[in-house]
Amino acid sequence: MEAQMRLIFFFIVMISAATEEIKNLKGIEGGNITLPDPVLELGFISLERKNVAMLDNGNFRMLNKNYTNKLHWDKNTGLFTITRLQRSDSGIYTIDSKEGNIFTTSYKLTVYDPVQTPAVNTVSVSTDSCILLCSVDKAETTLLWYKDEEILNQSSSALSLPLTVHKQDFNSSYRCEASNPAENKTLHVNITTSCRNNADAGGHSPDTQRYYILTGVIMAIVFVVVLAFLVHTVKKKFHKKSETITSQAQGRIRISEPRHTIY
Ligand SMILES: *[C@@H]1O[C@H](CO)[C@@H](O)[C@H](O)[C@H]1NC(C)=O
Ligand SMILES: *[C@@H]1O[C@H](CO)[C@@H](O)[C@H](O)[C@H]1NC(C)=O
Ligand SMILES: *[C@@H]1O[C@H](CO)[C@@H](O)[C@H](O)[C@H]1NC(C)=O
Ligand SMILES: *[C@@H]1O[C@H](CO)[C@@H](O)[C@H](O)[C@H]1NC(C)=O
Ligand SMILES: *[C@@H]1O[C@H](CO)[C@@H](O)[C@H](O)[C@H]1NC(C)=O
Ligand SMILES: *[C@@H]1O[C@H](CO)[C@@H](O)[C@H](O)[C@H]1NC(C)=O
Repeated sequence: MEAQMRLIFFFIVMISAATEEIKNLKGIEGGNITLPDPVLELGFISLERKNVAMLDNGNFRMLNKNYTNKLHWDKNTGLFTITRLQRSDSGIYTIDSKEGNIFTTSYKLTVYDPVQTPAVNTVSVSTDSCILLCSVDKAETTLLWYKDEEILNQSSSALSLPLTVHKQDFNSSYRCEASNPAENKTLHVNITTSCRNNADAGGHSPDTQRYYILTGVIMAIVFVVVLAFLVHTVKKKFHKKSETITSQAQGRIRISEPRHTIY
């Protein structure tokens, strides 16, 4: 009888060992994570094989005071939640349910930094294309450029990623996505505004306009000066000519005068 019991017990251990699985869980620093398997009656939750808390007849008992206010158990769902996650909370958690639904499940929890929403800047705008740069401050981020659902460019650890958009694609929908294994954040880019606004605001255009205006003003001044000079010169010449004509005429008169007097 005892031997049979032992055999049965051995089988149960074998089965539970065989069905023990490790589920990967990803958390974000500052966030919460709920372990997906419920315990309602009797069981334990442990971290790296050290018991953290237990359930005894549906009553939650904290065994490690360090987890007070951090590990919660919902008596309606039977689910454990770890709150205010830190990177140091990463590790193997195990739930051991001893009554009702009997199981042992382990979870490999990895806590990641939150992902930053990427920033997109216009690098340059030309008549037929536009270069945009998507960037984040933190490494360990994957950056992706999407045009509608198509990935156009990606990098797994760079802080920034460029994209060249051609004029014929200006009315497609573009977005830059920053992600780590736990989450992703997306910035939608309106190409029409990004590639035009910068040309109006931060680019070369106002300088170019100022340049044109200045050039125009200078040319106008030069034109006026040259014109004035020409007019002046022509006038002077004319004046001189008419003076000589007058003096010649006067001379003639003077010359003819004596003739008059002779006669
Ligand atoms: C995490 O859990 C705590 C306690 O249950 C709750 O106050 C908080 O709102 C939760 N935070 C998130 C991001 O779900
Ligand atoms: C609680 O945390 C402190 C400081 O991190 C540590 O020294 C101590 O061993 C922990 N206690 C338990 C029971 O794990
Ligand atoms: C993708 O990024 C690389 C640099 O990481 C860049 O040289 C290339 O031009 C980009 N491709 C497009 C389509 O913009
Ligand atoms: C972009 O819009 C124009 C009209 O505004 C249309 O003629 C053209 O086919 C569109 N291009 C794409 C790629 O959708
Ligand atoms: C980005 O996150 C959303 C949820 O916020 C998810 O639905 C989507 O699949 C994620 N995309 C990628 C590429 O991981
Ligand atoms: C982009 O912005 C322009 C001007 O603000 C607007 O007319 C256009 O509808 C926007 N396009 C998208 C795809 O949101």
